[in-house]
Amino acid sequence: MLPFEKKNIPYIKKKKSGGGITALTAYDYPTARILSDAGVDIILVGDSLGMVLQGNSNTLSVTIEQIIYHTTLVSASNPSSVIVADMPFGSYHSDVKSAINNAVRLIKEGGAEAVKLEGGRKRFEVINGIVNCDIPVLGHLGLTPQSVYNIGGFKVQGKIKIKAKEIIEDAIELEKLGVFGIVLESVPVELAEKVTKLIKIPTIGIGAGPVCDGQILVFHDLVGFTNLYLPRFVKKYADVYSSAKNAVGKYIEDIKTGKFPGKDESYYLKKDIDEFLNEDSQKD
Ligand code: KIV
Repeated sequence: MLPFEKKNIPYIKKKKSGGGITALTAYDYPTARILSDAGVDIILVGDSLGMVLQGNSNTLSVTIEQIIYHTTLVSASNPSSVIVADMPFGSYHSDVKSAINNAVRLIKEGGAEAVKLEGGRKRFEVINGIVNCDIPVLGHLGLTPQSVYNIGGFKVQGKIKIKAKEIIEDAIELEKLGVFGIVLESVPVELAEKVTKLIKIPTIGIGAGPVCDGQILVFHDLVGFTNLYLPRFVKKYADVYSSAKNAVGKYIEDIKTGKFPGKDESYYLKKDIDEFLNEDSQKD
């Protein structure tokens, strides 16, 4: 597929055998344009925006309205990537009907092409309901950040037999329910490999090693947008924080030393109007 061709869910599913599905988060128009232009397969409007944009210590306070708003910014960029919108905490937990309504809102109002929601067996009914509305669903197993209080922190999951078994069983059932892929977050490589081999839909890993069918990261982590702590699984490909800070430092310096704005950044009158203005000011 050429980079400017619109990608879709069947294309993502087909990449199971070819491997190398690429996914990143975006919460706004310019970022979505960068990702699309670079050829990223999936743009996730993740509830990670609660931490990355809003500065909270977890994702729990993010609302459906906020995800819809950020999804509209991403869909306005008309990306070739598939747009997946995250269902935030509380938007699919009370009953199937309201979960379906919220998923529909992400598609209709936000312009998403699919939704992602966290969890296994506790969410089967909800996932079944959304899938039956023909809304593509991306599952999310392993470390599910919306369960942070229950888990007791952002910890690697599936390290003990009973938990690993649960993740495997949930992945198999999610596939049966019709999700088009599963995000595996912070699980041991051996477990990610087992799940990836057992199911026919793609696994997209974050902190799950190289064995998954694809990888996802938070864009702001990848480009080094902050100088804050980053989890071990992040690879920083740029240092935007330092470049931007240096640029702002130079701007401040230029203002102080009178180098900005210079001739190139200023507007001047044509000669005759200039003379006319000078004549006027002489009369005053
Ligand atoms: O919210 C998010 O950005 C996510 C990904 C990191 C998988 O869920």
